[in-house]
Amino acid sequence: MKIIAGTASKKIAQDLSKKTRKPLADTKIKRFPDGEVYVRILEDISDEHVVVVQTTYPDPNIIELFLLLDACKEANAKKITTVIPYFGYARQDQKFNEGEPISARAIAKLISVNSNKVITVDPHKEYILDFFETKAYSCSAVSNIADYLKQKNVDMLLAPDKGALERVEKAASIINCDFDFMEKKRLDGETVEIKPKNLNAEGKNVAIIDDIISTGGTMAKSIQQLKKNNAKKVFAACTHGLFAGDAIKKLEKSGCDEIISTDTIENDFSKVCAASSIVNLL
Ligand code: R5P
Repeated sequence: MKIIAGTASKKIAQDLSKKTRKPLADTKIKRFPDGEVYVRILEDISDEHVVVVQTTYPDPNIIELFLLLDACKEANAKKITTVIPYFGYARQDQKFNEGEPISARAIAKLISVNSNKVITVDPHKEYILDFFETKAYSCSAVSNIADYLKQKNVDMLLAPDKGALERVEKAASIINCDFDFMEKKRLDGETVEIKPKNLNAEGKNVAIIDDIISTGGTMAKSIQQLKKNNAKKVFAACTHGLFAGDAIKKLEKSGCDEIISTDTIENDFSKVCAASSIVNLL
């Protein structure tokens, strides 16, 4: 087995290489002056099982993945496993309005062309795995997040909406603390309403766990509610930290004491490693 790192997921690829004791393949990946991407695998991978690791966000990383997969096929790899730490476009998993594409399915189909197996981490909805036209599996980094939060003396975990409750319940069983959820209503892509809930957060350290932080709107509104309920410390944790636009400022302004994400998208808040959740599926 050889691991091939896309430029968006070097850290996870290195961690997978260490954990599996399989080498990272030598590659050359660069951008042409016009922004197009050039990829080349610089060693023999014929008859090898290759594991290509690449988050599909932002868009240029999708093209890089397609080219890496094509290069593996051209080089006669025996088996191609595609690890997508963060699968972008997963939230457009249905046609919400007439005339729209099912974006998650469109991207999944293209990735399937040159993949024998796909692994992704905490997909927004599990059913998106069915969009791949090859074997597709998911794993969760929630236990890794819970292990990190254990050191923070967290008294209570919170899901920002009911849909995220299962994830939070799992983390609470690892930390051995209480858990609850908030009432969220999405008004549009950038605005959410978090209804006040009679949470007993007084004097408590509370961590909110979500799959994605994008604009930070969901987290910021939840944090404000918790602060109104006199929570002591509030942690905002997620698997995939997109932190779009002024998300970080928004979170800081809301009174967030610490922002935590995994390294499925590498950023300044990637304090939790996701590789250990992936390795067993390889
Ligand atoms: C939505 O269902 C997701 O689980 C997240 O809550 C959402 O994507 C977060 O987005 P934002 O940070 O823009 O509120």
